[in-house]
Amino acid sequence: MLRRLYKDQPASFAFTPANLEWAKGQISKYPEGRQASAIIPLLWRAQEQEGWLTKPAIEYVADLLGLAYIRALEVATFYFMFQLQPVGSVAHVQICGTTSCMICGAEDLFAVAKELISPHPHTVSADGRFSWEEVECMGACANAPMAQIGKDYYEDLTPEKLRELITRFRAGEVPVPGPQNGRYSSEPISGLTSLKEFESGRTQYNASAQLAVDIGETVKRIDGTEVPLLTPWLKDGGKAVSQLPGAPGVLTVAAPAAAPAAVAEPAKPAPGADAKSEPSPSEKTAAKGLPEALGEALAKGKPEAEPAPAAPAVAQPGQPTATGMQEPGEGSRPEGLSAARGGVADNLKEIEGIGPVLEKLCHELGFFHFDQIANWTEAEIAWVDQNLKGFKGRVTRDKWVAQARIIGAEGLEAFRQRAKTNDY
Ligand code: FES
Repeated sequence: MLRRLYKDQPASFAFTPANLEWAKGQISKYPEGRQASAIIPLLWRAQEQEGWLTKPAIEYVADLLGLAYIRALEVATFYFMFQLQPVGSVAHVQICGTTSCMICGAEDLFAVAKELISPHPHTVSADGRFSWEEVECMGACANAPMAQIGKDYYEDLTPEKLRELITRFRAGEVPVPGPQNGRYSSEPISGLTSLKEFESGRTQYNASAQLAVDIGETVKRIDGTEVPLLTPWLKDGGKAVSQLPGAPGVLTVAAPAAAPAAVAEPAKPAPGADAKSEPSPSEKTAAKGLPEALGEALAKGKPEAEPAPAAPAVAQPGQPTATGMQEPGEGSRPEGLSAARGGVADNLKEIEGIGPVLEKLCHELGFFHFDQIANWTEAEIAWVDQNLKGFKGRVTRDKWVAQARIIGAEGLEAFRQRAKTNDY
């Protein structure tokens, strides 16, 4: 299939302010001079915001990264994950047509898509709400046939199931992703015959389906307000770059609804780099300097003018926290902090079993440091286990406290060595 830009394009594109902050965080992950490597996440976020990848969006991202437009276009047209034409306003359905799925009935799924959405792939349905396409193997062959709808996998499909799913999406529902035939993940349909101990302590749905339910953005457009704007790899406690008051070289957002080059450097404004509705060629050249300016800002880290962080207020057990969470009926709430001590949280993801979502949950509950976790009592473990939304029981199951105590007693390096063999 030829992958070309769509014939009808919108006049302009700009990230929402929150998505622009997010984009700056992504760019800051890469060393000075290598910011172009952020192109895929930025193009992806542009697609998440708009539903598909428009020419102005590709050029906007190229400007943000200081790339020639052709370089960004090469990436956008190479990867099939980027939709170069409009998709349904509710969902784009990607049905796998590779060997396992084809053998298990993908053709019948195409027939349903043709009937319910459009006779032709990459064509928006008459009501504008759906589109579909055939894609290559998406790595869920053990659950064939399958389809990705929005961002999540719906597996073990039958024509009837796909028909039901599309009908429910059309009615405004978001069905739970994962296997649609009662399987938990890819075990035999008759249930586990071995390794049954893994049935205890597991979440309601398998890991990816559970994450999809917890995040709740399967078919949602992303304007950036859904994601944390922290950049934990930065100094100063992982604040978003623009949150560093007075930081030299810090980029600020100007007129986000305007066209590209809506980012300007306030301290040393480049000629022509201030926000205008349509940048001239010279302005675009000036915009190419943005990554360097951004890298400079990041490299400088915490500015001298940054006030010393206030001592974190301690949330007392039984009292509402800053997040409004109330004391539950079970267990005893550990003392929490309203912010990380000194403005710098420990990387809780060092603890096996804690990922970005759980770390965020911990922060919301007031837990930022290994020593906090290491000091939990049995009653406090019970409380946290009960209050990890969507992840109940993870503290006990993954032995967070034992891990945190080893980190405290032996240090991170020693812990990492022990973690390789689950020695905790
Ligand atoms: Fe369909 Fe692999 S063949 S997911």
